[in-house]
Amino acid sequence: MKGYVILISIVAALGGLLFGFDTAVISGTINFIQPYFGLSEAGLGWTVSSLLFGCIVGVFLAGIAGDRYGRKKMLMLAAMLFFVSAIGSASAQSLILFIFARTLGGLAVGVASILSPMYIAELAPAKYRGTLVSLNQLAIVIGILVAFFSNYLLVDSGENNWRYMLLVMAAPAILLFFSLFMVPESPRWLVARNQNEEALKVLIRTSGEKFAHIELKEIQQTLKNQEESTYRDLLAPKIKPLLFIGIILAIFQQITGINTIMYYAPKIFANVGQSNGPALLQTIAIGGINLIFTLVAMVLIDRFGRKLLILFGSTGMMLMLAGLSVLFFTKQTSGIMVLAFILGYIAFFAASLGPALWVVTAELFPNRLRSKGMSVAIVSLWIACAIVTITFPIMLEKLSGGITFLIFAIICLANLLYVWWYVPETKGKTLEELEKEFSR
Ligand code: BGC
Repeated sequence: MKGYVILISIVAALGGLLFGFDTAVISGTINFIQPYFGLSEAGLGWTVSSLLFGCIVGVFLAGIAGDRYGRKKMLMLAAMLFFVSAIGSASAQSLILFIFARTLGGLAVGVASILSPMYIAELAPAKYRGTLVSLNQLAIVIGILVAFFSNYLLVDSGENNWRYMLLVMAAPAILLFFSLFMVPESPRWLVARNQNEEALKVLIRTSGEKFAHIELKEIQQTLKNQEESTYRDLLAPKIKPLLFIGIILAIFQQITGINTIMYYAPKIFANVGQSNGPALLQTIAIGGINLIFTLVAMVLIDRFGRKLLILFGSTGMMLMLAGLSVLFFTKQTSGIMVLAFILGYIAFFAASLGPALWVVTAELFPNRLRSKGMSVAIVSLWIACAIVTITFPIMLEKLSGGITFLIFAIICLANLLYVWWYVPETKGKTLEELEKEFSR
């Protein structure tokens, strides 16, 4: 694989790193912003979820503006928004300003969450596309870990500790902004804008002289005589099924419960009577396993395909959740087994649905509709994420851990069956070959 392509993918994946960081950093600030801004529990919920609202808008923005102004420029805009959000939220003296700054960060997360994986998919040679797009997931996971660590290191830094925690994000935002100057625009977008020569230059550097000309022709074919796309085009009979697959997969990635663990692990441990003491250790264990098994996915995804990985992963996730549920039902929650099942669950997610969702949604749609199609799928992901994170504490309290995790296990089973029946395999083919195949 060419070093150039790897470099491009790493730069784009910085968007994923900021996405991970921004969504996770807030957890460490909660205990401090709540008294500072005098927030009730409900007020805190709204403040924390302001990011998610920004996100939803950001994804739509990226869907439209990503086509009009290009993937690269929009990622630059996201980098600027991350920066402004970091400075703004860190220096906010009033709640309104704080929420405003976090919402801007959400906008950036929304934009990065679709454009980073999509941009990589559009630049990567077919053979390595799964691995390279998964780099984005790896970066998300690293971002989450960095946030937890930096929060941990900064927690004793005085009354402004939460401000420093939020400020940290300015550094990777600057890095993303400037490193984007080193990478080219997506060749698929360039062709859509009739900049064929530019596109060819990029393709030669990413795929080599021989394939570049063939690829250019194929991309041109798919974009021939096409007007600018609209969201309504997603409802065309040949596209609608793809749209549904994208949406349903994205929702499944969330409602199989990953963020109940990512956001609430300490709460779960408290719920089973384990102390907060080893919280850091648990966080390291969860983050570490997440990281290692994302690497495993990167090795496997182009070899065994997206589908097999998801099928295998969903089975594992289901078994781990079922195990967790049994522990809760039988009240055997005091020992190490809770942690073991949780780690097992994370491992299966990281090796499958975590990265594979981003890979598949970036591959599913035709060139002309990719950014819009992906944006609708990913908006569904963020909405599902919001619903799960809001309802999980209530479920845990009202339904008990046993039933809650049983429900998530059943959802994993549903995901498994759905993918088995409906999701096509996308490995190894160029985006244009997939486009041809899906249009039949
Ligand atoms: C999901 C996030 C999740 C993260 C955890 C991503 O693929 O979309 O919601 O927090 O993985 O690793």
